[in-house]
Amino acid sequence: MRVEKSFLKWVGSKSRLIPQLLPHLPSGRRFIEPFVGAGNVFINTNYDSYVLCDKNRDLINVYEWLRDDLASLLNETKSLFDSRPDFYDIRTRFNDFTPILSLQRAAEFIYLNRSCFNGICRYNSSGKFNVPSGKYKNIYFPKSELIAFSNKLISVPVELVRADFPTVIENARFGDVIYCDPPYVSGSKNDIFTGYTPGKFDSATTTLLHNLLVLAVRRGATAIISNSNNSLIREIFNDFEIYEIDARRSVAANGNRQSAREIIGVLTPEMI
Ligand SMILES: C[S@@+](CC[C@H](N)C(=O)[O-])C[C@H]1O[C@@H](n2cnc3c(N)ncnc32)[C@H](O)[C@@H]1O
Repeated sequence: MRVEKSFLKWVGSKSRLIPQLLPHLPSGRRFIEPFVGAGNVFINTNYDSYVLCDKNRDLINVYEWLRDDLASLLNETKSLFDSRPDFYDIRTRFNDFTPILSLQRAAEFIYLNRSCFNGICRYNSSGKFNVPSGKYKNIYFPKSELIAFSNKLISVPVELVRADFPTVIENARFGDVIYCDPPYVSGSKNDIFTGYTPGKFDSATTTLLHNLLVLAVRRGATAIISNSNNSLIREIFNDFEIYEIDARRSVAANGNRQSAREIIGVLTPEMI
């Protein structure tokens, strides 16, 4: 199958897992992604409407510009890529001068994403983007991917939400499909007891996610989660139906000695 690719490089992107993921996504009237990231699942599905949420303000800003004014965003981004400025000059400008939610900030975010080390998106405790340069010889301007993403955003009703995940899960209703692809938690049980670090996605946060999803399913939504295949995640999501998937092979067979790296968990109203 042909997999559409996002214009962003994103850690934890599901683009390589799309063929294994899609069969687990049921039909529904509205698709809710509390952790939309680079939007790879959004652009490879066909629901009637979407709620796309992420706590990253710069990410949602780019999506708003893509929805509202593609031409201006393409112009601003292209001139930045064409002039090929020094990575650290742009990073400093982005952190210290560029107005929040501006068109310029959207363009700089795309430029930093394509030119920083491995497309990592990380901010320090003061909210400054602090990923080093990827030192790439060529930096790809993702024009066709930007246009395709924008077309998808305007082709169906899409609500863009910059928030912590509970906001959109608490609003899920009968008939909604909620797909969650949160930052992955390590398999170590110890982090349950090392306490909750604000802003960090740990086992306590994952447990909160689980509990909110169960409540949403009781209201008639269907919940699907992606996560790493480890005992901690299996324990937290023990009431979900668990499927093993792996980008390295198309069918996750139980007989395989090497276990799959990823799981998909599904909870439907019929299961509770
Ligand atoms: C693994 S990525 C999602 C990747 C996406 N499925 C894709 O294929 O492009 C996880 C996303 O969750 C977001 N995130 C982390 N903590 C969050 C929170 N508490 N609430 C909402 N979003 C959060 C991150 O900003 C990141 O974009």
